[in-house]
Amino acid sequence: MKKVTLINHPLVQHKLSFIRDKNTGSKDFRELIEEVAMLMCYEVTRDMPLEEIEIETPICTTKAKALSGKKVGIVPILRAGLGMVDGMLKLIPAAKVGHIGLYRDPETLKPVEYYCKLPSDIGERDIIVTDPMLATGGSAADAITLLKQRGAKSIKLMCLIAAPEGLEYVSEQHLDVDIYTAAIDEKLNDHGYIVPGLGDAGDRLFGTK
Ligand code: URA
Repeated sequence: MKKVTLINHPLVQHKLSFIRDKNTGSKDFRELIEEVAMLMCYEVTRDMPLEEIEIETPICTTKAKALSGKKVGIVPILRAGLGMVDGMLKLIPAAKVGHIGLYRDPETLKPVEYYCKLPSDIGERDIIVTDPMLATGGSAADAITLLKQRGAKSIKLMCLIAAPEGLEYVSEQHLDVDIYTAAIDEKLNDHGYIVPGLGDAGDRLFGTK
């Protein structure tokens, strides 16, 4: 199994409790998801390569560190993954954003892509797939397969809450993908919701339902 990293920073855990709370309305829910995504992004990008550059301070010339130019791509899985994008762009504004929308055909059980627009140089970018809820892991695994078919070589998956079933499934399907989550919950219920979870992330983000 590739690495699963639990991001248990106190700020992340504190905000996550309010995100879970059913009395948190859409405006606060959206803002909190954005903030948590930004904090998580800090950990997810911890291994970004640096290079040495020369700069001039007001005092003298000195060597300093700068990102080496390895490019990042953020790919939210529609629609709930969208809620995590803006927070990440605050930290990595040069990242390009792709979008993937897919569902499972209930008869064939095959993933059906209804939307896919990706940066053209996806093979040269470190891709971070976002989806707040890793439930069965089906859509995340299918989205990662799609990204690999389109040429992605370096992929991480960032979610907010994962069910053990989803972690196991994605890890089995994609041995090369590191997964980052702020919580590993107990289980899935009979309707495929994570328990205790936060309910339907898409509905809570966009005020639908
Ligand atoms: N998707 C959600 O939005 N919530 C869950 O609990 C599971 C999948």
